[in-house]
Amino acid sequence: MDHGRPKRAMTREDWYERFPRVREAGWGIADDGFHEREVTHEAASMLAHVPIDEPWLGAEIGVAQAKSASIMLHRRPLIRLVLVDNWIGWREVREIADHHLSRFDPGRYTIIDRDSTEAAAQFPDKHFDYVFVDASKTPPKYRMDLEAWLPKVRPGGIFAGHDVCRFVKDGVDHVLEDVKVVAAAAGAALNLVPEWYSWWWKVE
Ligand SMILES: C[S@@+](CC[C@H](N)C(=O)[O-])C[C@H]1O[C@@H](n2cnc3c(N)ncnc32)[C@H](O)[C@@H]1O
Repeated sequence: MDHGRPKRAMTREDWYERFPRVREAGWGIADDGFHEREVTHEAASMLAHVPIDEPWLGAEIGVAQAKSASIMLHRRPLIRLVLVDNWIGWREVREIADHHLSRFDPGRYTIIDRDSTEAAAQFPDKHFDYVFVDASKTPPKYRMDLEAWLPKVRPGGIFAGHDVCRFVKDGVDHVLEDVKVVAAAAGAALNLVPEWYSWWWKVE
């Protein structure tokens, strides 16, 4: 479909003109490869585990503007990523994600524009070297994602995610509670990294 886009590359101002809500919401857009100068908490969590010299296959569940995904593709040049998001309620952000990812070889990433829990069923068990879960944090969805995606990580791989130690509702950190329940059921040694609001364990 022709959205009246300029034929030259879209700049940040082009995006703001086209989607004023994007500017108002402060959603990140990079003209100049922000992934070369910035590391998000989410990417920091993943970079800590993903080797630089191995062709790991990862999945990020909840992609948003593909900020962390871009950082990963840039800083781990051998990895390939499956990127899952349904972008419900902010479809323009899907276009921003496409814009950010367009600087990478399309063979290095696959976008799955689908509900996070449903998307897990597309993959065989033990398929991924790492999975990072960062989609909905509303109970019971986060736990559903954890249970759907954990079997998709190979033994020795990394299962991780975001937003623990961050949101407390009615005195409960629901994300942390869900992570603890799933870790206990798996007999996993759960690690928390509060400064990045992240958690991880090595899958046995
Ligand atoms: C916190 S953002 C992800 C941030 C991203 N990981 C990063 O580091 O920049 C959460 C994302 O999860 C997506 N999401 C929420 N519920 C979802 C669902 N049921 N299925 C797929 N994606 C979902 C939202 O559209 C949103 O883009």
